[in-house]
Amino acid sequence: MNILVTGGLGYIGSHAAVKFTGAGHKVIVVDNLSNSKIEVHKKIQLITNNKIVFIKGDVLNKSLINNIFKNYHIDVVAHFAGFKSISESIENPIKYYLNNISGTFSIFNQMKKFGVKIFVFSSSATVYGYPKSLPIEETHETSPINPYARSKLFIEKFLKDMALSNNELRIISLRYFNPVGAHLSGLIGENPNGMPNNLMPFLSRVAIGKYPFLKIYGCDYKTVDGTGVRDYIHVDDLAEGHLSAINFLLKNTGFHIINLGTGKGHSVLELLNEYELVSGKKIPYKFYERRDGDVDSSFASVKLARKKLKWKSIYSINDICKSEWNWIKSEYEN
Ligand code: UD1
Repeated sequence: MNILVTGGLGYIGSHAAVKFTGAGHKVIVVDNLSNSKIEVHKKIQLITNNKIVFIKGDVLNKSLINNIFKNYHIDVVAHFAGFKSISESIENPIKYYLNNISGTFSIFNQMKKFGVKIFVFSSSATVYGYPKSLPIEETHETSPINPYARSKLFIEKFLKDMALSNNELRIISLRYFNPVGAHLSGLIGENPNGMPNNLMPFLSRVAIGKYPFLKIYGCDYKTVDGTGVRDYIHVDDLAEGHLSAINFLLKNTGFHIINLGTGKGHSVLELLNEYELVSGKKIPYKFYERRDGDVDSSFASVKLARKKLKWKSIYSINDICKSEWNWIKSEYEN
């Protein structure tokens, strides 16, 4: 099938592009390079030993997206293009609502015009807000606490409306927990522009010597060692989850919401200790105040993913840290 991967040079999109190509699909990437690098295109081609179509541009550019649908017979859209910084979304909500929500509308307009029925959406576990129960099931209430999360939830509601309006549509929203790690080739990984906000990219940059120490936000959470607990899922597992989602949609119509996580939580210190073990580097850290909006623990119920997608994660946090360290070393050596 021909799969349009929006945001396909970004962290998760690039891993999905590799996975889809490996499964025999033809991938067409559109990316505006706002938080990704052009070199990733070459690297995807190197990993897959395949020619991947890349179109530089924005999903909000109507004529560009129209031309893509016209020129390539698109069967599936996997929509990764979107902004994802929570702090930035609080400072600049317009950017988030405009890009994330209007971007999805723009894609859907063209899907409707060209009769494309299958859509895979990158959602986030942040739509749940503060967890009321663990593990978090898909039926858990949604109570987003920032504009980024609200934009994701709004899109989910829109997708549900779309599916109700046309019973031929096949739509899935995948709620990611904490995607981490890098491709086993060491060629692609998470390479945010500027200083990273998330734990794993920061940890790696301390290990490699780019930053002197890790700030650990909070040491008095109600967790195993006082630091925050999250469900860290290897990005390659996540990519595989998308492939399973497409296969599921080939057999099922309607709108579906599914968590992608491992079902297990790990604390900041557990991750740090594992990273030290794998890298052989001492990772200095200092405790800081809790970060606004952070919760004690968050991890997924993975029952629905197993049942519907016949998918489960296979990588451990040891595998995750190894792949991340392998990648960051090659990234900084070059
Ligand atoms: C964050 C986003 C979430 C997004 C996810 C994807 C926030 C509030 N949420 O989740 O929307 O889907 O990333 O990766 O930003 N930590 C430190 N020091 C750091 C960075 C993080 O101690 O420098 C701690 C945090 O307090 C938390 C854990 O590490 O306990 C994970 O943080 P992070 O990687 O930012 O992920 P989330 O906040 O869970």
